Amino acid sequence: MILLTGVTGKTGGATAKALLGKGVPLRAIVRNAEKAAALKDAGVDLVVGDVTDKAVIDKALRGVERALMVMPNGETQLDSEKQFIDAAKAAGVKQLVKMSSMEAVADAKAPIPKVHYQAEQYLRASGLGWTLLKPNFFMQNLLGSAGTIKEQGKFFLPMADGKTAMADVRDIGAVAAVVLTGDGHAGKSYEITGPEILSFHDVATCFTKVLGRKIEYVHVPMPAYRQTLSRFLTNAWHLNAVCELFQEIADGHDLHLSDSVQKLTGKPPIPLEQFIRDHQAVFTA
Ligand SMILES: NC(=O)c1ccc[n+]([C@@H]2O[C@H](COP(=O)([O-])OP(=O)(O)OC[C@H]3O[C@@H](n4cnc5c(N)ncnc54)[C@H](OP(=O)(O)O)[C@@H]3O)[C@@H](O)[C@H]2O)c1
Repeated sequence: MILLTGVTGKTGGATAKALLGKGVPLRAIVRNAEKAAALKDAGVDLVVGDVTDKAVIDKALRGVERALMVMPNGETQLDSEKQFIDAAKAAGVKQLVKMSSMEAVADAKAPIPKVHYQAEQYLRASGLGWTLLKPNFFMQNLLGSAGTIKEQGKFFLPMADGKTAMADVRDIGAVAAVVLTGDGHAGKSYEITGPEILSFHDVATCFTKVLGRKIEYVHVPMPAYRQTLSRFLTNAWHLNAVCELFQEIADGHDLHLSDSVQKLTGKPPIPLEQFIRDHQAVFTA
């Protein structure tokens, strides 16, 4: 039995999709059963509850051999990850796969990668079989700009000339599915990127090409961006953490491409052009 968390979200959802039909028994912790109705219909055993609730985790972990831990970002994330790791160990889980991030390194400053790095260290020392998935910026984050791309032909972000090696979450799910069902991944850390290092000006050029109309990237100074984002992210810790992360992208840092998608799935990573084409309707009025 494989246990997944976050299946109604981006990476957990992509992992569940990649695992369905492989004939492996799946269980998922969801807090909203309605959102996971399609997964239930597809045979996934749902445990309804909060992923930070020890009783829920203990119940879900019964008979589980492998698990994917996708934890929501927030000030209690590290405690929640530690609790899940401890519970997995107590339940006899053989391999725990942690969704982390490529920015989670020893000298990480921004709160989200810092928490991921601390949780990684805790998992490495836990005695459990572990695998780390460390994706770069998600292409699917761009769906948050669909409204302005559609209506104004512009998207507004605070990344200046910063670059990412953005990855499609479908590739992240495909890698997770391979790791959760295959052998030889214990003790491995996989960075996951797309096939290109792109600035957001490059992203705009790609949108222009695929959509066949001019799409412009507008750099927004961080204070103004923070103001706008605060309308959607009401948690102060999370708001600050996202702004710090985006500021690090704007400031620029060492970036490289990873070949893990090709190596693990046998397919090349999805390029941005393909992502935009696959979501063309969302970006088109
Ligand atoms: N975004 C990026 O560019 C990026 C890049 C690298 C790494 N990451 C990391 O990826 C992880 C997030 O993955 P994601 O983007 O796939 O997440 P997401 O789309 O935001 O989804 C979060 C999932 O967690 C569930 N959830 C939240 N709180 C819960 C609770 N208390 N109990 C049960 N379920 C709960 C949500 O359920 P509901 O549907 O009910 O809300 C949803 O299924 C984070 O750790 C992040 O740091 C993100």
